[in-house]
Amino acid sequence: MFDLKPYLSEKAKEINHRLDRLLADRPVRLVRAMRHSLMDGGKRIRPALCMAAAEAAAGGADDVVLRAACAIEMIHTYSLIHDDLPAMDDDALRRGKPTCHVAFDEASAILAGDALLTLAFETLASLPPESGMRVVGVVARAAGYEGMIEGQMRDMAAEGAGLEVDALAGMHALKTGALIRAAVKTGAILAGAGDDRIGFLDRYAEKIGLAFQVTDDLLNVEGDPARLGKAVGTDRVRGKTTYPALLGTARSRELAETLVREALEALQDFDRRADPLRAIARYIIDRNR
Ligand code: IPE
Ligand code: IPE
Ligand code: MG
Ligand code: MG
Repeated sequence: MFDLKPYLSEKAKEINHRLDRLLADRPVRLVRAMRHSLMDGGKRIRPALCMAAAEAAAGGADDVVLRAACAIEMIHTYSLIHDDLPAMDDDALRRGKPTCHVAFDEASAILAGDALLTLAFETLASLPPESGMRVVGVVARAAGYEGMIEGQMRDMAAEGAGLEVDALAGMHALKTGALIRAAVKTGAILAGAGDDRIGFLDRYAEKIGLAFQVTDDLLNVEGDPARLGKAVGTDRVRGKTTYPALLGTARSRELAETLVREALEALQDFDRRADPLRAIARYIIDRNR
């Protein structure tokens, strides 16, 4: 039976170590703000997925995959810094620490986010040319105006307005799903997977991406802020449209279960090297942080 806990902590160690080397440690305010948000507290699920996808595709997770995985974590962290800004979700706690704009100031937080996004693409520029260029396209599209940023835009626009369930799924697919899919696809591409396998892995990622955000919404209702490292109850206060708000917590949980089942089905033809991906699917909906 595959044990996910040591697997994830080993991956997190590798990721943290590599991130630490990729981001120069200089005693200037900008770098301190970037490090404040990037360096501790994150679960590192997206980079772990990237590495696990490379393993499932039989490529193994070498330093090329690790660097790409770190770039994706930088983009994710930038999105969190901006997500927490007063103009967006206006949150004061993230990863168990004051948010970037609280620990520093708003301008520094905006610029630290910008700098992490840019550093991500500088990091991707060091990948082998052919697969690397493909990865740059995949990641840029997922993070950009037809991906995560459009998802964030819809999230903001829907505050207090209410969405139908299809529109909510569409918003979640963009704001959270797109980068998770890109993480998995990046690992698969760098491992040299063929189109068929990339297709199955992408289906897996699409399902767990939505399950991830459904769980995030559930944790905002019933999670423990001390464990989560961020505030709870905030979605309701801000009039966010979420799965629990729309379907209730019981049906939201059922939906998450169904999505994980579908994700596992997509991996049917993969051997034991996909066990980490299988275990991560389960973890995504069972997690309490
Ligand atoms: C939180 O992501 C934001 C969402 C997209 C739902 P994570 O739950 O992966 O946050 P960290 O990286 O562990 O802090
Ligand atoms: C965050 O979504 C999504 C991105 C940062 C792209 P939420 O606003 O729902 O996530 P939390 O709950 O603040 O982590
Ligand atoms: Mg938000
Ligand atoms: Mg938020």
